[in-house]
Amino acid sequence: MGPAQVTDRRANAQNLAAARTPRYAGAMDALEALRLQIEWGADEALADLPLDRLAAPDARPARQPPAAPPVVPPPPASPSLPAPRPARPPAGPAQVRRAQEIAAACATLDALRAALAAFDGCPLAATATNLVFNDGNPESDLMLVGEAPGAEEDRAGRPFIGAAGQLLDRMLASIGIDRTRCLVTNTVFWRPPGNRTPTEAETQVCLPFLHRQIALVRPRHLVLLGGPAARALTGNSAGITRIRGKWTRVQVPGLETAIPTLPMLHPAYLLRSPGSKRDAWADLRALRRSIDAG
Ligand code: URA
Repeated sequence: MGPAQVTDRRANAQNLAAARTPRYAGAMDALEALRLQIEWGADEALADLPLDRLAAPDARPARQPPAAPPVVPPPPASPSLPAPRPARPPAGPAQVRRAQEIAAACATLDALRAALAAFDGCPLAATATNLVFNDGNPESDLMLVGEAPGAEEDRAGRPFIGAAGQLLDRMLASIGIDRTRCLVTNTVFWRPPGNRTPTEAETQVCLPFLHRQIALVRPRHLVLLGGPAARALTGNSAGITRIRGKWTRVQVPGLETAIPTLPMLHPAYLLRSPGSKRDAWADLRALRRSIDAG
C-alpha cells in the first residue's frame, strides 16, 4: 500500500467519523432515555414543557420579589406534545361491579373483546399499547391462562409470542398440542409497566372478563401458568411450586360444572430455572393423560 492510499484511507476514516459524530447523537440519546422511561413505567409528563434540571443555575429564571410577580406568558402551543390523558378512575370495588355487569352482558367472544377495548376501569389500559385478548382456537377444549402480556405481546396485541411464549409452544408441541388445539389468554389483558406483576386491584377488575371468556369458551381443561393465574382463578395463595401438578376444579360464573384445572410453572420461570423443566414435563404428561381420558 503506497503513502497516497494511506492518506486516502485516513481521510475516509475521518470523514466517516465526522459523519457519525453526532449532530443527532444527543437527540438519539434523549430518545433512548425516553424509551427507557416508558419501559420502566413512566407514562405521563408532569408539566406541559420539559424542564432541564441540569441547566446552569444562571440559565434558570431569576426569583422575583414577591411584591412584583412577573407576568409569565403561556407556553407556546406545541403540536408535538400529546394532550394530557383524562384521569382514569382507580380500579376498585365499583369498577369490579361495572366489569361484572359489562362482561355478563357479552354473548360472544367478539363482544367481550370489544367491551374490554372500551373499558376504562383498569389503569393498565392507559399505559399499554394494545389490548391482548387471546390467541389460538376458541373452539378448543383446552384453555391456558398466563400472567400478563409482556413487551412483545403488548406491541402485537397477541399473548405468548415472546421468548416465554415460544417455550410454551415447544412444551405443548411435546404433547402434540399447538395453537389450533388450545386457546391462550392472560389474567390481565394489558401489559403492566415494566413487566411488573399485576396488582390485586388490576387482577380483580380483569377477573370478570376472564371468567366470562372462560364461560364462553367452555373448555374441558384449564391450565394456569404461574402463581398469579393460579391465585386469581383458584383463590389459593400457596406458592406455585407447591400447588403445581395438583389437579383442582375451578368454578366459573355462568358454567354449571367446575372445570378440571392444572396449575403449572410459568414458562418464563422455566427460562430462568431450567432445572424445573423436569416438573413441567411431568405436569404436561399428566395433562395429556387427562385430555386422552376425555
Ligand atoms: N407471559 C405471560 O404470562 N403472558 C404472555 O402473554 C406473555 C408472557
